[in-house]
Formats: sequence, C-alpha cells, structure tokens
Amino acid sequence: MSQQADFKKLIAHCKEYGFIYQSSEVYDGLSAVYDYGPYGVELKNNLKSYWWKSMVQMNDNIVGLDSAIFMHPKTWKASGHVDAFNDPLVDNKDSKKRYRADVLIEDYMAKIEAKINKDVVKAKKRFGDAFDEKQFRETNGRIIERQKNIDAIAARLAKAMTDGDMADLKAQLEEYGIACEVSGSKNWTEVRQFNLMFSTQLGNIAGEEGKLYLRPETAQGIFVNYLNVQKSTRQKLPFGIAQIGKAFRNEITARQFIFRMREFEQMEMQFFIRPGTQKEWYAHWKESRMNWHKAIGHPETKLRFHDHDNLAHYADAAVDIQFDFPFGFKELEGIHSRTDFDLGAHQELSGKKLQYFDPELNENYVPYVVETSIGADRMFLATMSHALIEEQVPGSDDPNNKRDVLKLHPALAPIKCAILPLKKNDERLVAKAKDVYKKLSLSFNVQYDDTGSIGKLYRRQDAIGTPFCVTVDFEALDDDTVTIRERDTLNQERVSIDKLEGIIRDKVDMKQLFV
Ligand code: GAP
Repeated sequence: MSQQADFKKLIAHCKEYGFIYQSSEVYDGLSAVYDYGPYGVELKNNLKSYWWKSMVQMNDNIVGLDSAIFMHPKTWKASGHVDAFNDPLVDNKDSKKRYRADVLIEDYMAKIEAKINKDVVKAKKRFGDAFDEKQFRETNGRIIERQKNIDAIAARLAKAMTDGDMADLKAQLEEYGIACEVSGSKNWTEVRQFNLMFSTQLGNIAGEEGKLYLRPETAQGIFVNYLNVQKSTRQKLPFGIAQIGKAFRNEITARQFIFRMREFEQMEMQFFIRPGTQKEWYAHWKESRMNWHKAIGHPETKLRFHDHDNLAHYADAAVDIQFDFPFGFKELEGIHSRTDFDLGAHQELSGKKLQYFDPELNENYVPYVVETSIGADRMFLATMSHALIEEQVPGSDDPNNKRDVLKLHPALAPIKCAILPLKKNDERLVAKAKDVYKKLSLSFNVQYDDTGSIGKLYRRQDAIGTPFCVTVDFEALDDDTVTIRERDTLNQERVSIDKLEGIIRDKVDMKQLFV
C-alpha cells in the first residue's frame, strides 16, 4: 500500500471507530479543527497521563500548572509573538488558493528527495542482497547532484526565513518553477508576513485596548507564573514547570489531518536553570525525551533528531524530534534552549523583577530556560499511525484472512478489556457477563458488548486496540471461569473470574511504560 493510501485508511479508521471526527461535520466541517470521539478521548487522555506522570510525578523538581488561555495582551508583545510570530503567505492569483511559501519550497525539495529514493529502490531491486545503500548514495552521480541541489535550496530557504526576506522567497518560487496544485499556474502574488495569532475582544473595552489573543503556545503562562510557583513551592534551581493545554494558531495551510490544526493541545515543560548550564541541560532533555518516545514501543527507525536550520526568535539552540508519519519524517516535538529571552522580556515590559536569588552563588539573576514542547495531537497521530496494522490473522493459513488491529501498548489502549457473552439471548450468560463487567469496571475502563457474533465483536475490539477480550460461556455458569483472549497473539486461556483483575492489571498499568 502506498503511504498516501495508508494515510487515507488511517483517517477513515479514526472516523469509523470513534477516534476522531471533523469538527462541525454537519455544516461540512471547519478546516483544521477536529473533535475526539469516545475512543479518541481515552487514548489522548492516556498519552497525556503518560507525559504528566513522567514529567511531574517522576521528577521531584518539576511541578504542574494550569494557566488560563487568555493572558494580558502585553504578554504577547514581550514574547515577540505580536511582531515575529509570522508565516510567509502567498496566494495563487488564478485559483485564489493560499499557501505558505516555505512549505511550497519544502514540498519541492521533497519531490527531489522522492526521485533519489526511487533510484535507491530501483538499485536495491537490481543488486539484491549485495546492495550497499550508503555506498550507492555516496557514489551515484545523479544522486550526489540531486542531494547537492536539496542542500543548497535548504540553506537558501533557511537564510530567507531567518532574515525575513520575502522577496527572496518569491524569487525562489519563480526560479524553481513551482506551480499551484489547483490551477497549475505559476501566477503568484508577492510573499508577505502573516501573523498566526487569533485575536478577540474583551466585552467591556473597545478598540486596541481590549484586544486579546488566544494563546499560540502554553509556555508564556509558565513564564509569567515562574516566580509565583518558585516561591509557593520553595523550588531551587534547576526546576521545571509543566503544563498541558490548548493553543491556537491561524495556520495558513491546513493539511495532513490532525498534524497541523488551528486549535490543538500542547504538553510543555520549561526547565529553569543557572545561566551557563544550558548546554548540559539541553543535552539532558534531548536524551530524556527521545527515551520517552521509545518506551511506548516506537522504534528507533521511526524517530530521529533534526537540528533547526533557522532558529525561532527566542532560541539559541533548537532541535526537533521527528517521527516517520505516513507522509514522511516531520516534527513531533521541539526541544529549545530559550536563554533568558522570555523572562528578560517580561521583566523589561512589566517593570517587575523576575530574578531568582541563588543561595549558593549569593547572587540574583534571570534564569535561563530549556523547554520541551510536544503537541498532544501529533503524539496521537504518531501513536495511531504506528499502531494500526493490517495483518493476516495469527494462526490462519489463509493469506486472505486479514484483520485490522491497533497494536497500542496496553497502558495506552482506550478500553482495557471487553466483556462478551457468548450468546446475547441467554439471560444467565448476559447476567454473568454484566456481573464480570461491574467488577472490572471498578478498576479499569472496560466495555460490555453483545451487539454481534463473537467473531465480529473480537474484530471490533482489535480495531480499537483492546488488549483483552473476556468471553463468558456456559462453563462460567458452573465454575466461575471465563476465557481471556490476548489481542496480538490471539492466545486464549481459561481463567477463574477472580484472577481476571490481576492478569489485566499486570499488563495495562502505566508502570509498564517505565520498567
Ligand atoms: N513553546 C514552543 C512551541 O510552541 P512549536 O515548535 O511552535 O514550539 C511545539 O510547537 C509543538 O507543538 C510542535 O512540535 C507540535 O508537536 C505542536 N504543534 C505546533 N503547531 C501545531 C499545530 N498547528 N497543530 C498541531 N500541533 C502543533
């Protein structure tokens, strides 16, 4: 299956099985805004709990916060978002479609990369086992030329973005002959800066004075509270503040499902440190965050670091953790060394001292900050795209006997166990199954289902990632035993009802992600 087909299948699966719906679908939807359905909200909450546990509960020098979405408008002046939180916008004059100029250029580079990959695949086929991909890439003349071209375009793009050189972005669109995907024409407007913040108005104050922004990142709520938190929790540097919450960006291009949304959720942690120690803490958080991703079973081959080519206005070093999404490697998380940019700017604009007294140095200073920032929705997409698999049913000899199974780590699965009576029209079986459901529901998110044949019910649970199915059959009425079926192996075991809780707990506990 092609990557595109895989991605379409994933989106359809998310809708069909109640993970994600387009927002306001009855009105034909609102672009780049999505709603999480019954299983989606459970999976997302589990991902957020995994993050919160690893950040706040397992680090005694990191504490939590839940700051408001609305903040004083000066916050965004100080942070640089009013002046510099822009994307380069360009319109195609024929189709009237809007694009980000940098994304058009990145797509152009991706096309060259796709040509390289095609050559590699062809050569692999030709040379078979003897094929050395690294050597081929380093010695094949056509590939070397194409790679040089990509590197030159990337460097020029990074420079234009850092310098805010809109004229050069326009020149690049023209030089590379980039055309609109809708009209096919190269008839572009000038490239201009477009601020990504949504604004709204306070009810009782007219004009600019009452202008409020919907926060484009949760980080600023942490910065402006840092002294409150430090004093009220008596933290000493280094310490961190973590927060999960909504952020809003008026993205120009709304593509790739929940990858780029206008309303999304971030999980951010700002780590306050002594100036001069930023290199060491930056390295620490890079490693720690990469390990967090691997611990839920995302393989190394799907994760990589990517240093930023052009640094955001607040950073002196920045790296992305990229994930191999169905549409290629893209940013999943950012780790940024933000220096004292934010606290320094808030101190200056507010006129309030935001310094920390370091008892060891007997000195006051504005702390430096290393930030880790990940989108909960992107994490959701990464997790779903890795977990959704179409496979031949284990144990079956028939290659056409396929199933869709969501191989989520049991600790992340929306439903931990489904309780299924063998027959829905036998009152005794139904009563027994409901009894098992009641008992287990005290401990886990479990589901009772008698809406189809056992085979169909199993397939449905596989498709939503339920690690265990318990079938209540006639034997259960005599000896209080049931069969428990494991999602990935399809092994079935007969166990006493009393043992169920222990068996399930052993596998689905969040602790499993940390051992
Ligand atoms: N406080 C730093 C910050 O906001 P960012 O790289 O702009 O940095 C951090 O965003 C993370 O937020 C990204 O790595 C991504 O996971 C997520 N994110 C950013 N924009 C997003 C969008 N439009 N839709 C979904 N997630 C987004």
